[in-house]
Amino acid sequence: MKVIVGTKEEVVSQAAQRYVDLLAKKPDAVLGLATGSTPLGLYAELARLCAEGKLSFAEAKSFNLDEYIGLDGTHDQSYRYFMDRNLFDHIDIKRENTHVPSGFVKDDAEAERYDAEIAAAGGIDLQLLGIGHNGHIGFNEPLTPFTSLTHIVKLTESTREANKRFFKSIDEVPTHAVTMGIHTVMQSRSIILMAFGEGKADIIRKTVMGRPEISVPASLLQLHEDVTLYLDHEAASVLN
Ligand code: GLP
Repeated sequence: MKVIVGTKEEVVSQAAQRYVDLLAKKPDAVLGLATGSTPLGLYAELARLCAEGKLSFAEAKSFNLDEYIGLDGTHDQSYRYFMDRNLFDHIDIKRENTHVPSGFVKDDAEAERYDAEIAAAGGIDLQLLGIGHNGHIGFNEPLTPFTSLTHIVKLTESTREANKRFFKSIDEVPTHAVTMGIHTVMQSRSIILMAFGEGKADIIRKTVMGRPEISVPASLLQLHEDVTLYLDHEAASVLN
């Protein structure tokens, strides 16, 4: 794992450069994208660079990590809605080339078709991740099997609590989500994980310095050969 530490602005700018470099070399790259508050700065920077003509997503494809079960793209808390408003509306990606898992799959067999779509697109070149306080990546909660493909998950109460700030009340937070699996994520050629703020410091320490184990899903990224963490000083504060 490579760890890059700086101010939030510095690491956002360095992460954005990865997209500039990748898309210059491979304009039709396949991007794995994430939601949450963490990628917002990166998405704003990508939009700025795109507006300035420094990168283009015109031939790129994207696959998002996850979606809430039961929310369609018109719901303002769906991850499709989030992606449209925070990134896709501001860059030149073709909407038909953007993919977010359906929040209406009925079982894992149907959810797994997302893996087949990713494979048919050539596989993910660069996967972006945030991290939950319990080490979840996408919505792969602790103890998700290493071999998991895209599947339906029951969200932990701590994750629902953490995400209730976006809903009117906890009762409105969906109980289930569909997420790329750990195996899906590990198949990506390169991975970027971003984390900001003191609240993420402990889980970042476990991710980087703990033994890779399924009780801390993000720690499994140690087993991937091309992972870079972009951290601000606060998120990196207990790494030593
Ligand atoms: C959510 C998402 C994750 C995200 C995490 C952290 O539950 N499913 O993909 O990484 O929470 O969110 P934030 O970036 O807001 O801290």
